Amino acid sequence: MTDSPDPAAVASVARTWEGRAERYDQYYRAYAEAGRDAWRSLYREAIDALLGPAEPPLRVLDVGTGTGFAAVLLAELGHEVTGVDASERMLTAARAEATRRGVTIRWRHGDGHTPPEGPYDLVTCRYVLWTLPAPGAALAAWGRALRPGGAVLVADGLWHTARQLLRFPRLLPGAARDYLGMGRTLPYWRGITALQAAGLLRSAGFGPPRHFEHLMPPQRHRDSRDFFVIGAKREE
Ligand SMILES: C[S@@+](CC[C@H](N)C(=O)[O-])C[C@H]1O[C@@H](n2cnc3c(N)ncnc32)[C@H](O)[C@@H]1O
Repeated sequence: MTDSPDPAAVASVARTWEGRAERYDQYYRAYAEAGRDAWRSLYREAIDALLGPAEPPLRVLDVGTGTGFAAVLLAELGHEVTGVDASERMLTAARAEATRRGVTIRWRHGDGHTPPEGPYDLVTCRYVLWTLPAPGAALAAWGRALRPGGAVLVADGLWHTARQLLRFPRLLPGAARDYLGMGRTLPYWRGITALQAAGLLRSAGFGPPRHFEHLMPPQRHRDSRDFFVIGAKREE
């Protein structure tokens, strides 16, 4: 699926996230702290496996950076990170997070389907593929923004099963309504499986996908069923 995104759909999804930014920041700040070390190790190991044990800094683009969770961890690993998001409020929270953690990141407001100019060594996206109206087109664009031999690293899962929709209202008030609203424009609004993501990667021209979710302790991804982290290289 490499169709171009509908600009109206991108804008509508971005508006939903703009409205969610403050609560997302509060929720993730409370919840994410315990997972930081595990995610940092996962990124370190996955990067070594995909790109070889290169000395930092790698040029990294984090798409749908949100409140900067992954971008900040990657900067803490010594990489030169650009974080792009369609929501200004998310980026405001991300800037504050980077300041708290003492790292420097380039922030860009924009649509992840058309990434800021590369080349990058690595494109990351955590919990974002499912919320893009044209995820296949986005992956193809990220591939073009990578240097030959660069890699993409995607973390996602199945989010909006009946069980999660019952849980989310308690955790993130209003979330069920918002996610159902976005569903009209998103091919994977319930979430995306590893198999589906691997298919999109192959269609976008990436090499064979490699799995990294086993590097994450199970208690660190309890919000998503079928949580996965997969990476693939742009062919040389
Ligand atoms: C579930 S949040 C994930 C945030 C962050 N990556 C994390 O791991 O916590 C999804 C993010 O994707 C962003 N987003 C949605 N559509 C986007 C688009 N077309 N371009 C860039 N960012 C987008 C939203 O604004 C939101 O910050």
